[in-house]
Amino acid sequence: MKEHSVKLSILKTLSQGGFHSGEELGEQLGVSRAAISKHIKGIQDWGVDIFRVQGKGYQLAKPMQLLDQDVLNQALSTPVELIPIIDSTNQYLLDRVDSLESGSVCLAEYQAKGRGRRGREWISPFGSNLYLSMYWRLDSGMAAAMGLSLVVGVAIVEALEQMGLNDVKLKWPNDLYYQDRKLAGILVEMSGQAGAAANLVIGMGMNLMMSETTEGITQPWASLQEVADNQSIDRNQLAITMIKTLHDALNDYELKGMSGFVARWNRLDNFINRPIKLIMGPREITGIARGINEQGAVLLETAQGLESYIGGEISLRPNI
Ligand code: ATP
Ligand code: BTN
Repeated sequence: MKEHSVKLSILKTLSQGGFHSGEELGEQLGVSRAAISKHIKGIQDWGVDIFRVQGKGYQLAKPMQLLDQDVLNQALSTPVELIPIIDSTNQYLLDRVDSLESGSVCLAEYQAKGRGRRGREWISPFGSNLYLSMYWRLDSGMAAAMGLSLVVGVAIVEALEQMGLNDVKLKWPNDLYYQDRKLAGILVEMSGQAGAAANLVIGMGMNLMMSETTEGITQPWASLQEVADNQSIDRNQLAITMIKTLHDALNDYELKGMSGFVARWNRLDNFINRPIKLIMGPREITGIARGINEQGAVLLETAQGLESYIGGEISLRPNI
C-alpha cells in the first residue's frame, strides 16, 4: 500500500540498528522532520517500540528482522505475497479464492483486523510475529475440514521439534501452547464450495518476539523466542519452513486422511489426563481430558463414562 511506504522505509532503516536522526531520515525520504515525527507515531501505533534520544535520534527498542519477498520467492515454488500492512491475511485470500492457485500464501508484518475463532481479535503488532495464510482447495469437501485443522497443528509442532524447539503442545482444536500459555492460533475458514471441493483458507498467527508490553490479549501468552531460549529466530527461514510444512501436511491429509494421526496428536496434547471443562454456550461439562478420537473429537472422561465432543462452538479450558 502506497500510503504506508514512508513508514516502511523508516522501519527498513531503523531495522539496520543504531540511532537515526529525524534529519537523516527526512533527507533520505524527501520529507520534513516534523513529518518523520508524525510517521514515527504511526509506527508506534502498529505496536513497534521506538525511543528517541535528544541529539541522537530514533532507535528500535529491540532488533527487528523484516520479512523479505526476494528471500521467500527464492526458497518457495508456490506464489507468496508479502503485504506488510493488511487487515487480515485470511480475509485477503478469502476475497481472492477464484483467482488463486491452491497453495498460494499471504504473509504480513501487521494486521489491523487480525481475527481468531468466532470473530475474536488476533493482536498483530508489526514485525515481531508471524501472520501467515494459505489457500487450499480441498477436494474431499467441507466435511474433512475439521480433521484438517488438527493435522495442521500437529505438523507445525513436529516441524518446530525438528528445528530443536521442544515442549510446544496443542490445545484442542487448534492452538499451540507453551508452558500453559498460548503461543499460536490456527484459524481455518471456508469460502463456498466449488462443486464437491471446499475453498479453504488456513491462517496461523505465531508469536515470535512479541513485546511484554503488548496490550489487548485476554489470556496468558508465550513467544517462540522463549522456546528458543532467547536465541534469535530468522523470521524468513521460519516462514519458509512453516509454508513447506503446511504444504506437506495438506497434501498428506488429502492422501491419507487422519489415519495413524490420533497417537501423534495425543503425544502433543497439552491437557491430556488433566482436569478440563468444555464450554458450549451456556453449558459447561467437566472431566478429565483423554486426547482425541479418529474423528478428531475431543474425549472427556466424566462420571458417566468416556464422552466425545466435536464442533466449532466448543472452548476447552483447564478446570482449576
Ligand atoms: P477457544 O477458541 O477454544 O475459545 P481461545 O480462547 O484461544 O480458544 P480464540 O478465539 O481461539 O480463543 O483466540 C482468541 C483469543 O486469543 C483471545 O483470548 C485473545 O485475547 C487471544 N489472543 C489474541 N491475540 C493473541 C496473540 N497474539 N497471542 C496469544 N493470544 C492472543
Ligand atoms: C485463534 O487462535 O483463534 C486463531 C488465530 C489465527 C490468527 C491468524 S494470523 C494470520 C491469519 N489472519 C487472521 O486474521 N487470522 C489468522
